[in-house]
Amino acid sequence: MPASALHTRLGLENDWMIRARIVGTGQYLPERILTNHDLEQMMDTSDEWIQQRTGIRQRHVAEPGQGSSDLGAPAAAEALEHAGVDPAEVDLVICCTTTPDYLFPATACLIQERIGARNAGAYDVSAACSGFVYGLATADAFIRSGVHKTVVVVGAEVLSNRLNWKRRDTAVLFGDGAGAVVVRGEEGEQGVRNVHLGSDGGAADILVMPTGGSVQPYEQHPLESEERVAIDMRGKELFRKAVMAFAVATEKALAAGELTIGDVDLFIPHQANTRIIYTAADRLGLDHDKVYVNIARVGNTTAASIPLALDDARKEGRLTPGANVLLAAFGAGLTWASALIRW
Ligand code: UT7
Repeated sequence: MPASALHTRLGLENDWMIRARIVGTGQYLPERILTNHDLEQMMDTSDEWIQQRTGIRQRHVAEPGQGSSDLGAPAAAEALEHAGVDPAEVDLVICCTTTPDYLFPATACLIQERIGARNAGAYDVSAACSGFVYGLATADAFIRSGVHKTVVVVGAEVLSNRLNWKRRDTAVLFGDGAGAVVVRGEEGEQGVRNVHLGSDGGAADILVMPTGGSVQPYEQHPLESEERVAIDMRGKELFRKAVMAFAVATEKALAAGELTIGDVDLFIPHQANTRIIYTAADRLGLDHDKVYVNIARVGNTTAASIPLALDDARKEGRLTPGANVLLAAFGAGLTWASALIRW
């Protein structure tokens, strides 16, 4: 066992501990854009309602036949190029998605092949909107234990073909897209400092995609039926739980890192609703200028939301070396997760 893994297991602090450092980020958005005004033509909604209640102005939508791997592969390729890492060096590809290309094989396997990561294992992580932080936590554990050195974590979603476009309560919220990071084991202070994962399966029915699984296979629903593709969501209840989940996840991450909210330089939350994000920020006592928000442009892209925001923040120069970056997510499950990173 490498010395770093032994030290970690024994809970010993040391200066040379291997940390999982994000060394590259990338993204891919499908070309087609659907604005709120486009949605006004499709259902009884308004640009004003959507912007006021969610902060969303537009979302990207995949073409028919375009799967999550088609979005995830170019995002991962960009992250590898940014990192300057040869795909052959990748040990593991993790794809976080609620909309895999197929029930099997894993979407990660398709991405692995497309990016030429011929020496890597590959599998999917399913934790809905918290998925990317769960995936990052997995990469962190593999790297700090010395099992792997280089892991690609992708969040990729094609939600548009899982939405009922007659239902304004959900159709206006979601978008398609992918974001990816390359995580490497490096000595030093930079990298993931701690992660916190949570779940409350007792609240699973607040946000569900009921069809297409083993309980309600598609065959039970005629092609034209509205239930065939439709997300069941109790929005208001979820809103309250989301604010709570952000608070719990954030406080755990800060406590484990022995930091206070004042030490956070950039908060990158899951992008579900600006009202949720700013309510949570106010409760935490976090200045709004330290909160990264890109939902207006991409909507809620579930597991892709945080890596997309990370990549946007990096390209805007908001991720400076040494900055304390806090990621926090919540989603179906219910799940929640946070990660504190020294950039
Ligand atoms: O990634 C995790 C997934 N999801 C979330 O985190 C979502 C959490 N929840 C939310 O973000 C909010 O609850 C929503 C944005 C989904 C809804 O906002 P709200 O302020 O909770 O609205 P509401 O559901 O209470 O609906 C208010 C009104 C209703 O009309 P009445 O009953 O007051 O006449 C709805 O029928 O707004 C109506 N409404 C709409 N009107 C125009 C609902 N959806 C729409 C719409 N356009 N798209």
